[in-house]
Amino acid sequence: MKTALIMAMKEEAKPVISEFGMTRFSLDSKCKWKNEIYESSKYPGFYLILNGSYIKDQNVSKVGTQAACVATFIALELLGAEMIINAGTAGGFASRGNKVGDVFLGKKAFYHDRRVPISKEWQAFARGEYSLHFKKEWFDKYDFLEGFISTGNSLDFVDRDLDLIHEFGAHAKEMEAAAIAEICEENNIPLICIKSITDIVDGGIPTHEEFMANLNKASEELSKHLLKFLGQEILIGEL
Ligand code: ADE
Repeated sequence: MKTALIMAMKEEAKPVISEFGMTRFSLDSKCKWKNEIYESSKYPGFYLILNGSYIKDQNVSKVGTQAACVATFIALELLGAEMIINAGTAGGFASRGNKVGDVFLGKKAFYHDRRVPISKEWQAFARGEYSLHFKKEWFDKYDFLEGFISTGNSLDFVDRDLDLIHEFGAHAKEMEAAAIAEICEENNIPLICIKSITDIVDGGIPTHEEFMANLNKASEELSKHLLKFLGQEILIGEL
């Protein structure tokens, strides 16, 4: 089954790039919006798509839903992916017992910053609530925590974001999963989400400081889980 792994930041993806022999792959396109695409020399049919960097400053990754949607379009329409995996970092919650380095396998994804209070139907659309793909045995086998994932386009938050996150019962706050899930759901494509905690949203330390301080540690935890999981469950047989 052709599979695409979508990740936002190159820092998070470095171990995947080396472990799976990922080399740059270019699509013929006039569009200047460029995600970074890789294909695996070890597993033909396995692709990595990064959100890519901001043209005005190459050190800035285009985190968030816009680049995640383009990555999903590339995966489905141009690469023919039949399964998508979204892996990356997220904020966790002390009130839910999370700590830095915890790794979640998502069961559902929501939007906490898309609000359209016109009617119940519009509100349901805005909230999202997409089902993610998982098998029950994966939690124990790969030491994943069970999680609901909430998506918005800011690293920090306003109070209303947190109200909705708590209303959903979400465990991880990040910036891409629901956008990818929205497109996958309409296309009947299974989406697996794996998120590693870099910062504790209700822990009292400014998110950007905690995020930068823990990015390496959380990325290491993420790649340990991801490499084992991909190697044993996904990259098997002919893709
Ligand atoms: N990625 C890592 N930590 C995050 C947070 N607190 N909010 C959004 N995205 C994140």
